[in-house]
Amino acid sequence: MNYMGGKKMKLTGEQQKKVESILSQMTLEEKIGQMNQESPSIVGGFDVPFSELIEMLTDGRLAQEEFERLMSTAKQDFHEEEIRAGLVGSVMGNDPRKANELQKIAVEETRLGIPLIIGFDVIHGLRSVFPIAIAEAGSFDDALFEETARMVAKESRAHGISWNFAPMIDVARDSRWGRVSEGPGEDTFLGSRFARAKIRGLQGDTSDTGNYVAACTKHYICYGACEGGRDYNTTSMSTSQLYNVYLPTFRAAMEEGAATVMAAFNDLNGVPCTVNEYLLRDVLKKELGLDGFVVSDANAIKECVIHGIAADDADAGVQAAIAGMDMDMGTHIYKDHLKAAVESGKVSMEVIDEAVRRILSVKVWLGLFEHPYVPEEVIEAYEKGIPAEHAALARKAAEESIVLLKNDGAVLPLDKSRRISLVGTLADSADEVTGAWAMGWKKEDCVTILDGFKNAGANVSYYPCGGPEGNLNEEELAAACKDGDVIVAIVGETTAMSGEASSKADITLPGRQREMLAKLIASGKPVVTVFMNGRPLALGWEAEHLPVMVEAWHLGIQMGNAVASVLYGEVAPSAKLSSSFPYVNGQCPLYYNHPSTGRPAGKSKFTSKYLDAPAEALFPFGYGLSYTTFAYSDLRVEEKKDCLEISVKIANTGERAGVEAAQLYMQDVTASLVRPVKELKGYKRVALEAGEEKEVSFVLAKKDMGFYDNAGNYRLEDGLFRICAGANSRDLLEEEITVRF
Ligand code: BGC
Repeated sequence: MNYMGGKKMKLTGEQQKKVESILSQMTLEEKIGQMNQESPSIVGGFDVPFSELIEMLTDGRLAQEEFERLMSTAKQDFHEEEIRAGLVGSVMGNDPRKANELQKIAVEETRLGIPLIIGFDVIHGLRSVFPIAIAEAGSFDDALFEETARMVAKESRAHGISWNFAPMIDVARDSRWGRVSEGPGEDTFLGSRFARAKIRGLQGDTSDTGNYVAACTKHYICYGACEGGRDYNTTSMSTSQLYNVYLPTFRAAMEEGAATVMAAFNDLNGVPCTVNEYLLRDVLKKELGLDGFVVSDANAIKECVIHGIAADDADAGVQAAIAGMDMDMGTHIYKDHLKAAVESGKVSMEVIDEAVRRILSVKVWLGLFEHPYVPEEVIEAYEKGIPAEHAALARKAAEESIVLLKNDGAVLPLDKSRRISLVGTLADSADEVTGAWAMGWKKEDCVTILDGFKNAGANVSYYPCGGPEGNLNEEELAAACKDGDVIVAIVGETTAMSGEASSKADITLPGRQREMLAKLIASGKPVVTVFMNGRPLALGWEAEHLPVMVEAWHLGIQMGNAVASVLYGEVAPSAKLSSSFPYVNGQCPLYYNHPSTGRPAGKSKFTSKYLDAPAEALFPFGYGLSYTTFAYSDLRVEEKKDCLEISVKIANTGERAGVEAAQLYMQDVTASLVRPVKELKGYKRVALEAGEEKEVSFVLAKKDMGFYDNAGNYRLEDGLFRICAGANSRDLLEEEITVRF
């Protein structure tokens, strides 16, 4: 066994001995127990498993308050009896006192005293909710990615959670897919840096068990490639596409020492990831070197029967175990069927031992044997509220994630003396600032956009008028147009419109929001439009008609303060898009790093384009403006033995200070496989005072200039490369260079 330690996570010799010693004392039932994850189920009036409640909460069928009321009053089965019998290795939950109670049973009342590993979906924060990942990725700020994850880890442990089902690192290029909100966007390179930073933040500070958790990178793999952007749908692709586009984020996470992985629901080339021995054993465990364990996604082992790949539950369990699936999330199939499968010889004892060894190793690494409980004083501290530094970081992250898309006219930054008519139901909803997959927040911590304006001392009047659900109040609209000097319209999507099971065929502004915007513009007053959404929207009409567009995503508990500070110019916008925005729906999937075609879109009819829409993005990957302007010049590329040294000058040509996320791209011009028209290879945030110029340098290692072929082999091919640097994936300076490896 390759004990966790090949990478950043080390088990000492003593710890390894401990794992072996426990393993040697375990019965088969106890071993299978470790491979079983339970979630609380509601008993009594109705029978809804906890995972479904979470889904209902996530997709908006259940309001946060209703969920909390239900949880506090409903009779729940936390599976205490099974835990006591040693039949449970993991549970889900985020209540620290309940965690302590269950942990006490596991530690003090089971034969071997093995603690539970308690997992939860802490995707972009628990009580302190940070921006959704697609937004945070746009900050192009690795230090921020790490810092927010470090805080998330601490807060998770304080709630009894030692295992976060995050980061979600699915490359996602089809904005119809609702889960684009949960991940770092369309680009493999940015996604890989995001993955590394998140792993460092979640797992890095092992100085105290209260400071780190086991990350669970997900969803392995190609979940973001679901056909048509429809959640859970089939995927199929070449080995080279798998290796070049979808695998690198997971490779990076494994290199950084990610403790666990969650398999994806989808099939890849006909075999569901849940039972895919090639993907789980050959690629993930052997090639990428996962040291910890793999968990199925919720109910996924059972779903292999519906996929038509397993005859029944027992067969699905056998296939999953043999494929290398170490833990069953929520189906009981391992618990109910694996013993018989081992006894009949269908599943070997080695398979079971390997899974249990992996699970125990993570528990030992987490320090759960020595520190299984959340200290009472930590629980009490959170009951008093979140620490001030958490709110401060949530605000900084939110400010850094706002993208200025368009800024015509002289209205932004706003002048404090002007009267604001704030419009849109989304502006005054605490429920809507947190975004998809946020489950531990409290309303009292959430700052709405209206709150943010008030906190900033704005002269603001609020007119709900209408929102994504389709309502439009003409009277309020008329009053809003009449009253303010400036109209600030908040439009977009509700939280429930993105996230799991929230794919959409139409990603234009929902409801009558376009009509509302048209009427606001017709008033002749200056209009600033702020978008709140969990996916790139098709904004062709808006870009044509609106003078000012600000993409604010779902930014977390400090959203209102962050939006106000950017609109008032206390903070200059600095984020860029982590995903391309189309003009119209029909352009999906859309991404900047498309493989070259023999007939690139051009003037001629017989080129790769649409008759009725542009081929390129409305706002491309990496795009974002500030209150100042930046000019790039003097791109230099110098070849060294093992790398290219690249420098470019960036001047702040405007009147204000600003931060620019400078980007480096590369094109392998001639290769043995068709390569992307460009690929991100580096980025840096650069702070520049008005009038200041800086030289920014990048090192592009030659070993990173290759690609995988269709046998999964990495190739470095001599030849011509185009090196580009600039403000986004479209506006670039370029140099050509012939490179020999
Ligand atoms: C989701 C996962 C999540 C799991 C547990 C599933 O439905 O796909 O991302 O971690 O539920 O809540």
